Amino acid sequence: MWCQGEVIGRIHWHDHLFSLKIKADIAPFQAGQFVKLAHVVGEKRIARAYSMINAPDDPELELLITHVQGGQLSSHLARLQLGDKIAVSTRATGFMVLSELPKARDLWMMATGSGVSPYLSMLRQGDLWQQFERVYFVYGVRHTQDLAYADELERWQQTHPFHWLPCVTREPDFNGITQRIPEALLSGSLEESLGAVIAAPTSHVLLCGNPDFIKATTVILKEKQLTKHLRRAPGQISVEKYW
Ligand SMILES: Cc1cc2nc3c(=O)[nH]c(=O)nc-3n(C[C@H](O)[C@H](O)[C@H](O)COP(=O)(O)OP(=O)(O)OC[C@H]3O[C@@H](n4cnc5c(N)ncnc54)[C@H](O)[C@@H]3O)c2cc1C
Ligand SMILES: NC(=O)c1ccc[n+]([C@@H]2O[C@H](COP(=O)([O-])OP(=O)(O)OC[C@H]3O[C@@H](n4cnc5c(N)ncnc54)[C@H](OP(=O)(O)O)[C@@H]3O)[C@@H](O)[C@H]2O)c1
Repeated sequence: MWCQGEVIGRIHWHDHLFSLKIKADIAPFQAGQFVKLAHVVGEKRIARAYSMINAPDDPELELLITHVQGGQLSSHLARLQLGDKIAVSTRATGFMVLSELPKARDLWMMATGSGVSPYLSMLRQGDLWQQFERVYFVYGVRHTQDLAYADELERWQQTHPFHWLPCVTREPDFNGITQRIPEALLSGSLEESLGAVIAAPTSHVLLCGNPDFIKATTVILKEKQLTKHLRRAPGQISVEKYW
């Protein structure tokens, strides 16, 4: 089922990254879930998934969108202006939600690019503080300009047991981690920078974004004795692949 959404806000992060705020009458959802946006071209509906950043009780949908060069739908979304209409699925879906996660002391949120969206929704919603004592947020991007919502992450860091770490891979002069997330994990620099250790008895790890990043990181986490989390076999790794 689809409803008609209206663009009511837009943040321009840079030429290939933007956020849209959309007014749309969708069913209640859980932080971490995604809706579909669609655009009809001729006879064909081009529909793609986008994770909410807004908390479920915020009626304005907020989405962070990478403009993939030549991408069919993201190129259309990149052209939308205030007042423009866009089809939105009325039901959100997705299993990377807090109610699916087992209790653990530490929650590790790791993402590349726009894969941070589900985590921002969980932070804004706030229930995660009943489930976890500490939250570590690892944000892998090509350039510092890709670090959307960094100001908000700084604020969470000042007010909660929350620590975030950017890994910026295409700026050799970046004053911080310049390795990809899996490499930073393997070298130990990721845990050292955060002053924390990922271990099966204490940690749950969320991975979201680039599928190759998820694959490489999962291999390393499995070497640390963490396993994929399934309803029938609880583990410590939950993933959301964006393509
Ligand atoms: C569950 C889920 C949630 C998603 N949430 C988001 C989101 O919140 N924000 C978002 O920008 N995208 C998100 N995506 C990806 C999104 O659905 C589209 O695939 C993306 O916008 C490209 O669509 P397109 O039609 O422009 O490109 P297409 O013409 O379909 O080209 C697809 C190609 O674009 C690349 N690509 C796709 N998504 C991304 C991305 N996010 N970053 C970099 N490269 C990408 C890949 O190489 C992929 O093969 C999500 C995908 C899934 C499955
Ligand atoms: N980000 C930009 O400034 C920019 C500019 C032009 C176009 N675009 C568009 O945006 C899309 C890319 O978006 P993006 O930069 O958000 O996503 P991305 O290419 O997935 O890169 C995000 C982060 O993931 C890392 N990564 C890539 N492959 C990995 C792997 N196999 N294992 C571990 N980490 C991996 C990247 O490292 P590496 O840097 O080492 O790859 C980078 O740090 C492109 O398709 C393009 O259309 C973006």
